[in-house]
Amino acid sequence: MPRRDSDSRRLCRRRFLSRGASALGAAALAGLPAPAIGRPGEAGKVRMGFVGVGGRGTTHLRTALEIPGVEVTWVCDIDPTRLESAGRLVEEKTGKRPAATEHHRRVLEAKDVDAVLMATPCDVHAPLYLDAIRAGKDLYAEKPLCITAAEADAIVKAAETSVSIVQVGFQSRYSPRVRDGIERLHRGDLGEAVELRAAFLAPFGPLRGWFSKRARSGDWMVEQAVHHFDIMNWALGALPLRAFGMGRADIFTEGEPDRDVHDYYTAIIEYPKDVIVSWVHSWLCPKGGAFGKPFLHVMGRKGGVGLLEGPVEYMDASRPKETLKEEGGNTTRFAQEAFLECVRARKRPFSNVLNGRDAVLVALMVRDAVYGRRVATMEEVKRGG
Ligand SMILES: NC(=O)c1ccc[n+]([C@@H]2O[C@H](COP(=O)([O-])OP(=O)(O)OC[C@H]3O[C@@H](n4cnc5c(N)ncnc54)[C@H](O)[C@@H]3O)[C@@H](O)[C@H]2O)c1
Repeated sequence: MPRRDSDSRRLCRRRFLSRGASALGAAALAGLPAPAIGRPGEAGKVRMGFVGVGGRGTTHLRTALEIPGVEVTWVCDIDPTRLESAGRLVEEKTGKRPAATEHHRRVLEAKDVDAVLMATPCDVHAPLYLDAIRAGKDLYAEKPLCITAAEADAIVKAAETSVSIVQVGFQSRYSPRVRDGIERLHRGDLGEAVELRAAFLAPFGPLRGWFSKRARSGDWMVEQAVHHFDIMNWALGALPLRAFGMGRADIFTEGEPDRDVHDYYTAIIEYPKDVIVSWVHSWLCPKGGAFGKPFLHVMGRKGGVGLLEGPVEYMDASRPKETLKEEGGNTTRFAQEAFLECVRARKRPFSNVLNGRDAVLVALMVRDAVYGRRVATMEEVKRGG
């Protein structure tokens, strides 16, 4: 079962207190500025820099500008047009233009930045996240944590020996609905978990550009499915053992001949205790929306729950169905607010580098299975095979 929140906080506090000195030393060795211990600033204000202000980064920026106690001091993007729009957006909302740069290291060196939010293409996550952690900045790191197992290990190691608070961009971990469903499962309301049925189906695609280059995104198992894989790991409190998969990458190549990601794939994923996941991930969704709704159903011996949609129902026909908690707001905002709370209290986020790494490991195992049309194991992925 996952570590309880209160345990995580105690652990994090201990690590923070005992490892401050080594993080200072590590930063000096890396030639980066020493971390500013004692953050955030007066009255709990958190000064933030946004690195990568494309689609997701701009959503985050807009969200942050609505949250009291946040000051956006820097924006950064290698694309000058996006940089200009982000600066303008901040100025329109606050009356103050943030500093702007195309070089993320300038944000990491800035004294008026407590925390950075990074939302760039996946292939640059690892170098940027490692730079941020080594600079001692707190980091909201968009998912996926990275695109290889070696990168995941390096980021976990860096984060565990740093003072930086690192939260991974799994906003579903802050969804009242998903939490309610998983809490019911963990306290036994549904009986022993037996089967998961899950699908990521989205009529807003297929996405193109860097997303459709395997070397940049890691393919959809890594770029997109990590959200669901993280929920599965959380729900089942374990990493899966092995997977078998198949798919096709020849459907949406028109106009994009070098597209090399999957348009559709499916996998059977085995978790410990014989819990089997049936997984589908597809862009083959007609635009009417009828065939494009993601779902994640967990079936236990006593009942089932739809974590993303649908009710809780029981095998016992006399027991009425129940509904999960309402979402009651925007999960990206909930995730950012939780990050700010962790920054202020110096505690480990609920969505952290460990579950960020675990979701990537599942993604890599499923990808190996799909590419090879074979059974791939978690052991192989962990060995780097
Ligand atoms: N949590 C979610 O629900 C969610 C949703 C969408 C995207 N994402 C993630 O957010 C990240 C960004 O996705 P997106 O949709 O915003 O992509 P995007 O292409 O719209 O934006 C990426 C931005 O990063 C900039 N960039 C690239 N390299 C950079 C660098 N070295 N320094 C600074 N800026 C750089 C690009 O110029 C671009 O503006 C990805 O990791 C994606 O998986 C998460």
